[in-house]
Amino acid sequence: MDRIWQKAYDKARKLVEKMSITEKVNLTTGTGWGSGPCIGNTGSVPRLGIPSLCLQDGPNGVRFTDFITHFPSGLATGSTFNKELIYLRGKALGSEHKAKGVNVVLGPTVGPIGLKAAGGRNWESFGADPYLQGICGAATVEGIQDEGVIACVRHLIGNEQEHFRQVGEWSDEGGGWENLQSSISANIGDRAMHEIYLWPFADTIRAGAGSIMCSYNQVNNTYACENSYLLNYLLKEELGFQGFVVSDWGAQHTGVESSLAGLDMTMPGETFDNWLSGKSYWGPLLTRAVYNQTLPQSRLNDMAIRILAPFFAIEACNLLQENHHPSFSSWTFHTFGQEFPYQHYGPIMQQNWHVDARSAFSDEIALSVAKEAIVLLKNEGHNLPIAKSDGIRRVLIAGAGAGPDPKGYNCKDQRCVEGVLTSGWGSAAVNNPYVITPYEAIQEKAIEQGIVVDYTSDVWELDNVGELADYADMAIVVVGASSGEGYIEVDGNFGDRNNLTLWNNGDELICAIAERCRKTIVIVNSVGPVSLDKWIDKENVVAVLYSAPLGQFVGKAMAEVLFGEFNPSGKLPFTIAKKKSHYVPIISDLEDCENPQDNFDRDIYLDYRFFDKHTIKPLYEFGYGLSYTSFTLCDLKIIEINSPSEYLPYPEEYLPIYNTCEDDVCDPEDALFPHDEIRPVPGFIYPYLYNENIRSVEDDENFEYPKGYNPDQKTCPPLAGGGLGGNPALWDVLYEVSAEVKNDGKYKGGYVAQLYIEFPSTILLSPPKVLRGFDKVFIEPNESKRVKFEILHRDLSIWDTESQSWIIQTGTYNVYIASSSRRVELTGEIDIGC
Ligand code: NOJ
Repeated sequence: MDRIWQKAYDKARKLVEKMSITEKVNLTTGTGWGSGPCIGNTGSVPRLGIPSLCLQDGPNGVRFTDFITHFPSGLATGSTFNKELIYLRGKALGSEHKAKGVNVVLGPTVGPIGLKAAGGRNWESFGADPYLQGICGAATVEGIQDEGVIACVRHLIGNEQEHFRQVGEWSDEGGGWENLQSSISANIGDRAMHEIYLWPFADTIRAGAGSIMCSYNQVNNTYACENSYLLNYLLKEELGFQGFVVSDWGAQHTGVESSLAGLDMTMPGETFDNWLSGKSYWGPLLTRAVYNQTLPQSRLNDMAIRILAPFFAIEACNLLQENHHPSFSSWTFHTFGQEFPYQHYGPIMQQNWHVDARSAFSDEIALSVAKEAIVLLKNEGHNLPIAKSDGIRRVLIAGAGAGPDPKGYNCKDQRCVEGVLTSGWGSAAVNNPYVITPYEAIQEKAIEQGIVVDYTSDVWELDNVGELADYADMAIVVVGASSGEGYIEVDGNFGDRNNLTLWNNGDELICAIAERCRKTIVIVNSVGPVSLDKWIDKENVVAVLYSAPLGQFVGKAMAEVLFGEFNPSGKLPFTIAKKKSHYVPIISDLEDCENPQDNFDRDIYLDYRFFDKHTIKPLYEFGYGLSYTSFTLCDLKIIEINSPSEYLPYPEEYLPIYNTCEDDVCDPEDALFPHDEIRPVPGFIYPYLYNENIRSVEDDENFEYPKGYNPDQKTCPPLAGGGLGGNPALWDVLYEVSAEVKNDGKYKGGYVAQLYIEFPSTILLSPPKVLRGFDKVFIEPNESKRVKFEILHRDLSIWDTESQSWIIQTGTYNVYIASSSRRVELTGEIDIGC
């Protein structure tokens, strides 16, 4: 175990030693939906100064409150390919959560990874590549935790579509799949599990993530939150995760079994679909399980220690010193309300303090990310940036995405989609404090240049729009598509998108405008890839920009790019295919199937890896993005820092855990509900027993722990394990690569140098290219800068299913410095002999 964590464990253990069984249980179980100010609230231990922990979404800002910044989405963040900026976004997010009194941020999201183009929640995470997700996830964790808030990395694992992620949602409201018996099973092979899906989680664990959320779906036919192989072995043993695993909200399906399988905290407390019932798999039942010895007390101790340890590992947390309380309620926006507004229960008291969590720093970072996320896909004839000197005197701004939504900026969880897109919908959506729309921002810049502006939000009366286009020298059309979480249906889309076409008549609108305006600029603002084929090759569509959801500054960022105040430097975080059939479809039709199966047949060939393998030409490839300036590269250098070894060295033995917590089971009477002290709140989950008739399972000859469960501490980690994120040698730097980039154009600009590696196939076939580094530099015209990369042991490794470890194959590795996954600028070689 890492020393920081060992010290944290020692401190946590000292506290846990002082706790009664009910106090420990109280840490593990949410108090119930709405039973506390946050989306998730644990029980507290007031005697030892441990407050109820506040867990709150999420990855793009503080959910369910006001006076916060609406940051650009994860997908937009990934599009920047700017590590430093991504860290700063994490810091800004962390500082706003801290200011509101949140203890655990439910984010970042690194799963879904983006296997399916229409996956509802792809916009929350950073893009369809494990390396990109890993770097962005780790930087975000560091940023958040440096501000003294625990990051909860979600969703482990395989939640690549919303359809059938959980039974209740899909058997009732979600289209009536009455026969559905279980959540969909993501069936993932061992190599893909390691090289694709677990990869980003490993990075975030190495970065010190204090918590991880297991997903709703099943993984290889066992629910993720009770999958012992996934939680106990892969996550805690192999990847050395030291913090706590919390269930997605209602993703727990068993009591003792899930805790033996490695789940440490259940949220929001109740069993799924039983909100407000006060019924939990844990709470009193966990207490009973310890008393009747179905659950070893050592496991409960471990759960409690894991929950507290992150607060000691991350210094800035100050959990016990601060007397802070969330300054908002997720259940009402009013300043005063009943103590439990959701339950309509309790005395009237202050609920919201409307603390302004924003800062100049947040504004700056949110705007910078939004600008750097914008990807220039096409710029025929260099019509962008817009300049009056090019004869542009009359501009039309059109498209549903240009102006405000008629229903407002803050429909619940961002489910309104008839105006500007600031995010997708669901639990990662936050309220906009205000929105600078494309229409407002573009108009402002145009006016400064003496340009006259017309605007229409009409997307249906195309003759009228055409007439306006006729009069314009240039038309800017903002179109898009949205998606979100499965509990919300928008226009027949149950989380996942039904198709990849533009919403709000986007294709027809663009065609009608391009028919009559010689310079039509299209801005696609969407949650993922969309079909562009109806208009992308039209001569009058002179320029196209793409952006993932950009948050509150969406319009300002777009306007600065259009008018050349900011030179676009974003890169596509996924591939845009020419044909729909090249994408992995959503499983949305079950034909009466009771236990839906999703076989991840793409194996390790995610996104561009698949296109490269089958030499399919995409429309725009992963990593693609133009600039107003041009760059040339030269002078590739590869220096060996440490000599590579085929096999990993054996990791050191685990540092011993002194499990001094007493394992004796006390008198059940101690755990009885203290009716004389507490008047129970309806629906609130308490840890107490309701009667003391506990039968010890020791008396039951037939009782057995689940197969494979061993309460003893292991001493030897697996070969692939032994440190945070896996075997520490995986992070050894083997090579340093660098190259010179020159800006030989007219404008200052950002360049993202991408490092791809082609592996030899001595033992196993690998994709033709995999991303293994990126470095963004901003360069003045006629100046040069060096881009630098470190190639780690891990970056050259493949997962060997036989030895259950990472190996480096002997042979030649091609090293590509590229402007995209398809445009290689410089090539070098690394030879690894036997
Ligand atoms: C369910 C979502 O899947 C998860 O991401 C979120 O954190 C919880 N709801 C709480 O809102």
